[in-house]
Amino acid sequence: MTQIIDGKARAKELRKELKGRVSAFVEQSGYPPGLGVLLVGEDPASAVYVRNKERACAKAGIQSFHHQLPREATQEQVEEVIDQLNADAQVHGILLQLPLPDHLDAEPLLLRILPEKDADGFHPVNAGLLAVGQPRFVPCTPLGCVDLLKWAGVEIQGAEAVVVGRSNIVGKPAAQLLLAEGATVTICHSKTKDLASHVGRADIVVAAVGVPEMIKGEWIKEGAAVIDVGINRLDDGRLVGDVEFESAKQRAGGITPVPGGVGPMTVAKLLENTLEGAIRQEAEKQQTV
Ligand code: GUN
Repeated sequence: MTQIIDGKARAKELRKELKGRVSAFVEQSGYPPGLGVLLVGEDPASAVYVRNKERACAKAGIQSFHHQLPREATQEQVEEVIDQLNADAQVHGILLQLPLPDHLDAEPLLLRILPEKDADGFHPVNAGLLAVGQPRFVPCTPLGCVDLLKWAGVEIQGAEAVVVGRSNIVGKPAAQLLLAEGATVTICHSKTKDLASHVGRADIVVAAVGVPEMIKGEWIKEGAAVIDVGINRLDDGRLVGDVEFESAKQRAGGITPVPGGVGPMTVAKLLENTLEGAIRQEAEKQQTV
């Protein structure tokens, strides 16, 4: 029987646990953890993500500070809000919602976020810390993927893991996390020759390419664990992942659905990162008094 890895259920469990940890933090510190969220423009998908994140914060007892700039905002205006959030003692985590409008340059903006408040883990300092085995803020989606594998009882140590996608946000950090857990990791991408043969060897597949149903069910090794990060909207309105779900389910030992797989985990891990940022910043404060 194929196990459907229910990210929605796991995220609910995590958020409940987190609520308790947030209460303990408030009791000890006297103030709530805070997340600053910056949305530029009116991209409807981004607006939905941001709303979900802010609602989840409120439920967990985390304060969120919403900043919205119009689509035509300048690089300098975005920098100004980031500087303001960097300087705000009530803000322990900062999230700049991506993608940004085309005229803005995301890279220097992500660099401008203080690494100590980089709840998304996109700052090169945090990417570097992960790469040298001293993780601080780790990107939320890869954290959610590895959490789901462990929760589903998948043995990562010694496993052949194939990550499809090499983005800084998902593919690369997912590979780093799996490597740290003792997997033998292959990163595949758009230039990979014979993707099917790589996927066919994998005990663990993490699909993060953003191409609807690109990974065919017949490629999946019998019993493999399949984590599908893709969320793609088809012309007929259906939401599908990067993996052909129905055919992959016939072969996989466990597979995440889309929606209801990795998506809810990203939000839960963002809340966790924000709390952990607040805990670290509080500890630093105690050391300096
Ligand atoms: N856009 C899509 N996913 C994400 C995410 O995890 N963080 C940010 N900042 N933007 C995103």
